[in-house]
Amino acid sequence: MSKTLFVTGGAGFIGSAVVRLLINKTGYTVVNIDKLTYAGNLESLKSVSDNERYIFEHIDICDKEKITQAFNKYNPVGILHLAAESHVDRSIVGPGEFIQTNIVGTFNLLECARAYYDSLENKDSFKFVHVSTDEVFGSLGNTGYFSETTAYDPRSPYSASKASSDMLARAWFHTYNLPVVITNCTNNYGTFHFPEKLIPLVINNAMRQKPLPVYGRGENVRDWLYVDDHARGILLAFEKGKSGENYCIGGHNERTNLEVVQVICKILDELKPRADGKSYSEQITFVTDRAGHDYRYAMDPTKIQSELGWKPEDTFDTGIKKTVQWYLDNQDWVAHVQSGEYQKWVDTNYTNR
Ligand code: NAD
Ligand code: DAU
Repeated sequence: MSKTLFVTGGAGFIGSAVVRLLINKTGYTVVNIDKLTYAGNLESLKSVSDNERYIFEHIDICDKEKITQAFNKYNPVGILHLAAESHVDRSIVGPGEFIQTNIVGTFNLLECARAYYDSLENKDSFKFVHVSTDEVFGSLGNTGYFSETTAYDPRSPYSASKASSDMLARAWFHTYNLPVVITNCTNNYGTFHFPEKLIPLVINNAMRQKPLPVYGRGENVRDWLYVDDHARGILLAFEKGKSGENYCIGGHNERTNLEVVQVICKILDELKPRADGKSYSEQITFVTDRAGHDYRYAMDPTKIQSELGWKPEDTFDTGIKKTVQWYLDNQDWVAHVQSGEYQKWVDTNYTNR
């Protein structure tokens, strides 16, 4: 019988990459715990969902009874906690869900994990990996990097909710000895990324002859990491990370937003030229800036590289080409997650769960 790992938010963008990694490259049995919000898509797991080591549990992480039952039923050796409301723009429009899932939900998971951990005879193998973001560190100027010792300075409702959950996770380690490891990663991109976020939004708008909205002057800087490199970092943090520590993950791929959009346009110009022969960059439209828009994020990943041996496999140039091609090849997935059709798919495919 293989060891069982919980993945929360496994139907989301990064969570699904983690589940695919665990099923395809390890022997763990994976219990995917997901509420299936608008951002959760079981279709992203089609390639592994028939595997006998994959189990789906449709549970809200705020539901104490069901989470407790799940711990007792599956006896996991660890939990990789990714479930969250993740989109900064949505947190500005409606922060309530972010407080509920990211803070209250994490609190609930920590409490359920604590009760389960306290009941374990062999405590050595259990670990709670709390997956967080570089946004908790605030905003950088033109120079410098975030690292594990950077002071927290969250500035959006999203990053404030993630920072709160990080603090809870730390407190549960120090106060209750729950073996918690925290990861803080930079902006991810890649396959199955919900098309509300910059990179998939731009690819899809370009294909649909729609404007490519760039906030402000497009000068804000993000540090991009291909999603599978992040997934490997999370697994390493579980297998080799030291309890009570946090690990910053990033691959030194800083780009301004305008550079990112221009690169996507250039790749699309080659792969799928516009009918009128003009460049997709003609569709770039500068729009009103995001409220409180953090200027720059950039990560120093030295600790996870030197202590855990993590190394990214993709650069931005290799990852973005794969990503654009994937969206060209997977327009059905995009149409489903955007149209509500997806929900019917869930109802049809998961009647027995
Ligand atoms: P996502 O929005 O694509 O997916 C979130 C998943 O969580 C969805 O499947 C959703 O259904 C599920 N979920 C939401 N609320 C839930 C609840 N109450 N109970 C159970 N499941 C619930 O998010 P993502 O981009 O994959 O991010 C995953 C995690 O990684 C988040 O914690 C996020 O803060 C963190 N992170 C993201 C990035 C990034 O660039 N996307 C970077 C660093 C860290
Ligand atoms: O840094 C890690 C974070 O990266 C994660 O914690 C978040 O969950 C994830 O959503 C992401 O946050 P960002 O706000 O950086 O990602 P987003 O794709 O929304 O925006 C990237 C940049 O592009 C940001 O500077 C805002 C800008 N942008 C975004 C959108 C949606 C635009 O210019 N136009 C847009 O339409």
